[in-house]
Amino acid sequence: MSDNYDVIQVTNVTKSYSLGSGEVEVLHGIDLTVRNGEFVSIMGPSGSGKTTLMNLIGMLDSPTRGSVRINGANISGLSQKELVKLRRKEVGFIFQQFHLIPSLTAYENVALPLVFAGEKNDGAVESAMERVGLSYRMDHKPSELSGGEQQRVAIARAVVMRPKILLADEPTGALDAATGARIISLLKSLAGEMTVIMVTHNRELAGHSDRIIELQDGDVREQGEQQIRINESKMGVIV
Ligand SMILES: Nc1ncnc2c1ncn2[C@@H]1O[C@H](COP(=O)(O)OP(=O)(O)OP(=O)(O)O)[C@@H](O)[C@H]1O
Ligand SMILES: [Mg+2]
Repeated sequence: MSDNYDVIQVTNVTKSYSLGSGEVEVLHGIDLTVRNGEFVSIMGPSGSGKTTLMNLIGMLDSPTRGSVRINGANISGLSQKELVKLRRKEVGFIFQQFHLIPSLTAYENVALPLVFAGEKNDGAVESAMERVGLSYRMDHKPSELSGGEQQRVAIARAVVMRPKILLADEPTGALDAATGARIISLLKSLAGEMTVIMVTHNRELAGHSDRIIELQDGDVREQGEQQIRINESKMGVIV
């Protein structure tokens, strides 16, 4: 496969959640294509469906209608077992709260995905720690690290399996401005090696990505050629 291909293809995707007796439609027919190695930011007001969209791309959830293709594979056609396998191999996640395990060292936290996948560590942990500039903090527990360092450990854990896609949901939300900017530089340096999709409320930080996708008030707004549509005005309870 050439390096320049569509790693993510979201086509006419709707997503509804069951709520009491009815359903709430959150995504109303989204089209989005992301090229291999791109760095894309997703912005939009709270509740506009950013995390919902990330969960679909990350194969944590499946669309109500439409298709999500990761590396050409339609995720709706995969069994739970195949999904888990594809997700472990192709996707790394980071979040606002770093979700490190407090009782484990930085090294052990980064090694966890290898343990879950039953893979040997052939230097992958060391190389991921080096990639985020934390080789000298291997034996520190999360409580012995700064917020920025904890997020870098979380990034090392997300990339240790060398995924094609790195999903970052508000990765700088818990960090001060200077530390957040350093995390964005790190994500930018990882893009190219992998595709990076970041949700952020910070327009200045989003400006460092290749393009910005906006989910807002039913408007389609994007800096770039791809289009995405989330129609909040149509949001409501459907039976
Ligand atoms: N599991 C669920 N069941 C029912 N409704 C849900 C569920 N998850 C999300 N929603 C609803 O879907 C809408 C979109 O939620 P989502 O978390 O995707 O928003 P967001 O854009 O990430 O917001 P924020 O910026 O606050 O993180 C919200 O109105 C939320 O209440
Ligand atoms: Mg969210």
